[in-house]
Amino acid sequence: MQDLSLHILDIVENATEAGATLIEIYISEDKNKDLLQITIKDNGRGMDAAMVKGVKDPFMTTRTTRRVGMGIPLLEQAAKETGGNLQIISEAGKGTEVVATFQESHIDRKPVGDMGATLATLIMGNPDLDFRYYSNLEGEEIEVDTQYIRGELNDSISINDPAVINLIKDLFKKNTKS
Ligand SMILES: Nc1ncnc2c1ncn2[C@@H]1O[C@H](COP(=O)(O)OP(=O)(O)OP(=O)(O)O)[C@@H](O)[C@H]1O
Ligand SMILES: [Mg+2]
Repeated sequence: MQDLSLHILDIVENATEAGATLIEIYISEDKNKDLLQITIKDNGRGMDAAMVKGVKDPFMTTRTTRRVGMGIPLLEQAAKETGGNLQIISEAGKGTEVVATFQESHIDRKPVGDMGATLATLIMGNPDLDFRYYSNLEGEEIEVDTQYIRGELNDSISINDPAVINLIKDLFKKNTKS
């Protein structure tokens, strides 16, 4: 996987499979500490303590189609390659938070990639779920909240209408403030 955005797509897929209705994605950097941090939080079914412990192991999966689960181990590997780490905070019945940290300037740190396209894909593919996105990268803040957008739309336009998706994508284009 070339970009962190593709890892994020994978981790969000775990959240949708866990029955989440709200998925939060936060990406921020701390230039002073040379850190990049990605947090993906969901309100899905969560995991018990044993599962959290085993989840970084690629042979731990509840998939029935394939026996090896790679989403979490691959993101952990991407973080560790930079001297960072991956943390999973989860509680059965409550939800899950996956936090990956990277040494931002590390030569092996993958680029964030196209988060506009990633978020657009997620919203188009999951129009019944809510997403909250916030990033603060290179001094530019971007915020998307589908609950808020839904509130602003009139009932005849759905969240996955191409016009709405294009507006969301536009937020990610440099120098467009709205
Ligand atoms: N957000 C989550 N909520 C509840 N369970 C989760 C969550 N994320 C992961 N899991 C559990 O951990 C297992 C391993 O996840 P991982 O992404 O590493 O592999 P996978 O989803 O099984 O397979 P792959 O990602 O390769 O398609 C999942 O099968 C699931 O049981
Ligand atoms: Mg997965």
